[in-house]
Amino acid sequence: MKILILGANGMLGPWVIQALRDRQELLLTDIVEPKTRSGHEFRRVDVSVLDQVVDAAAGMDCIMNLSVLRWDRKLAFDVSTRGNYNLAVAAVRHGIRRIINTGPHYQLAGRTYEDWDFGLHPDMPPQPGTRLYALTKALGQEILRVHAERYDIYVQTLLFCNFYEPATLARPEGGFGKPGADLWPFAVAWQDAGEAVRLAVEIELERLPSRFETFDILTDLPHGIYVNTKARTVLGWQPRHFLETLSTRVSTL
Ligand SMILES: NC(=O)c1ccc[n+]([C@@H]2O[C@H](COP(=O)([O-])OP(=O)(O)OC[C@H]3O[C@@H](n4cnc5c(N)ncnc54)[C@H](O)[C@@H]3O)[C@@H](O)[C@H]2O)c1
Repeated sequence: MKILILGANGMLGPWVIQALRDRQELLLTDIVEPKTRSGHEFRRVDVSVLDQVVDAAAGMDCIMNLSVLRWDRKLAFDVSTRGNYNLAVAAVRHGIRRIINTGPHYQLAGRTYEDWDFGLHPDMPPQPGTRLYALTKALGQEILRVHAERYDIYVQTLLFCNFYEPATLARPEGGFGKPGADLWPFAVAWQDAGEAVRLAVEIELERLPSRFETFDILTDLPHGIYVNTKARTVLGWQPRHFLETLSTRVSTL
């Protein structure tokens, strides 16, 4: 399968590339150069520029969006909202049926859910709240939903919380977890996240319950606030790293 990856040079990109590299043909794109050589073709593509996305998508079987911009009011809409519009247009124009989208868990389950509820799952009505990151991503997802309703394209959105490197407990922004303090309890290891993306790439489209599906990619959570049952049952995903391991590691640092 030929896969266009948008925003491939961020923190998650290398783990996705690792999960797919011997199995699929990848076209890596970003607005910044890759830090290391992966052996895959790289092209500069700005996800907010329609023509660039449409050109890069020619001949692809799948478009994957790992791009995000979190901090600037205008750029956040350009990347996280308009970017999804551009890739939807590119998919329709080239007849590409498989779209993999990504985002944070709270673009669907904002504080109104997270502060009070249990058993949170990805098919709840979205309540992202007004935080710029969550809101721009949620709007981008809504754009994909209406395209999947109208056209023969299958959108899978994978929602993550913080990523951890289980061997070192390194966090995306650098630094490490501290016992009982900042180990966010909705977490997943990078390797498990990459594997979830691979399963979304490789699942037969006809096995998806509908043309628009969302998955929470979070390790098993004993407190039960979030459940990952859907990712397990539909994608066949199984986390290999668990909170117990992460907590144990933290106390030995
Ligand atoms: N890092 C986390 O803890 C975390 C948590 C939850 C969800 N996510 C989600 O995972 C996905 C990947 O996140 P990440 O952690 O790799 O983010 P990141 O910020 O490390 O990488 C994002 C990439 O997008 C690229 N980008 C920015 N503007 C662009 C543009 N105009 N065109 C093309 N590319 C552009 C950046 O250059 C960067 O390489 C995102 O959807 C994010 O919302 C991340």
